[in-house]
Amino acid sequence: MPEPLPMLPRPLDTRGRPLHDLRISVTDRCNFRCVYCMPRAVFGPDHAFLPRDELLSFDEITRLVATFTRLGVEKVRLTGGEPLVRRELPALVGQLAAFPGVRDLTLTTNGVLLPAQAAALREAGLHRVTISLDADDDATFMRLNDARVPVAKVLSGIEAAEAAGLGPIKLNMVVKRGWNEHAILPMARRFRGTGRILRFIEYMDVGHSNGWRLDDVVTADEILSTVGSEFPLEPMPPTKPGEVAERYRYADGAGEIGVIASVSRPFCGTCDRARLSADGQLYTCLFATRGHDLRALVRGGVSDEVLETTLRGIWEGRDDRYSEIRSAETVELPKVEMSYIGG
Ligand code: GTP
Ligand code: 5AD
Ligand code: SF4
Ligand code: SF4
Repeated sequence: MPEPLPMLPRPLDTRGRPLHDLRISVTDRCNFRCVYCMPRAVFGPDHAFLPRDELLSFDEITRLVATFTRLGVEKVRLTGGEPLVRRELPALVGQLAAFPGVRDLTLTTNGVLLPAQAAALREAGLHRVTISLDADDDATFMRLNDARVPVAKVLSGIEAAEAAGLGPIKLNMVVKRGWNEHAILPMARRFRGTGRILRFIEYMDVGHSNGWRLDDVVTADEILSTVGSEFPLEPMPPTKPGEVAERYRYADGAGEIGVIASVSRPFCGTCDRARLSADGQLYTCLFATRGHDLRALVRGGVSDEVLETTLRGIWEGRDDRYSEIRSAETVELPKVEMSYIGG
């Protein structure tokens, strides 16, 4: 048996930020074609998705997570594309749930496959899920998802997740001007008082496919005044450092909402997240232009010790703060796509 590695202090990046969250994309495929993420004109029938042998295997992911937990990672979120289209996903959940250091094990999904999978995911050890839903009327939602999926399908997914014990559910609504800002109030009305936490997300300039323009962003201020015009809101303190959503409660006690204002109020100062793509590239920012090839290391037979030293060095060299320095020039940089890096 090799000697166990000694525990070293947890790394801080060049801005003093620790590494706390790891977001793992398990596939770059999705059964939706959301206009702000995988527009059909770009992700059409001829689009080349990653071939299977280029994806990290579950054992490779598990090995990397083992090292990441030694560097401070306590929260792991599985993403995609749509993570539930990756075959046998509950098996991976089971492998990751076995790490005592992983205190929060979650998944972000569009919800459609949850009726079939929620129970197995829960049994495997998943703690909770976040479900995307951009409108509560079919016309608006189907225009956005561009895959003819009606709202009822996602509502069934939400119910299945709750029934399986994966609640309380967070709901993500990306707001894009001209597409769904009229759905802000109906969504608030529908979900207040249900225990489900609705979070409004400012439309971001991730990747290049979505043709992002600043004018398309509906800001947190605008969203909050829309909701607040019918339901008075009060700010709430963060639950933890580095939280991306600013929280508000309904003054009448009907629960809470969140706003994720990456464009109008960037939160890079406390960003403690690393992202692993489905093919094993490590990115230290959602808007990164290049990653670090961990798959090559793992497939090249790297030792645990060298792997740990390498990841530590990557984190200690990190300087990212894209949302704080966003400008006309940075928007043009060759950034990776959301469906590849996992949001
Ligand atoms: P919770 O702990 O459950 O609140 O998780 P979360 O807020 O990390 O979850 P989720 O994956 O649902 O992310 C919500 C939105 O915030 C998504 O649109 C993400 O892309 C965005 N987001 C998350 N982390 C970052 C980040 O580091 N930078 C930016 N710019 N956006 C982020
Ligand atoms: N801007 C903001 N949020 C986005 N998401 C996907 N693309 C974008 C974008 N361009 C959201 C998804 C999901 C989360 C992981 O990221 O809707 O809820
Ligand atoms: Fe798929 Fe989520 Fe992207 Fe929509 S936002 S296309 S559901 S990965
Ligand atoms: Fe973190 Fe990059 Fe997002 Fe800033 S823009 S919060 S550094 S992921």
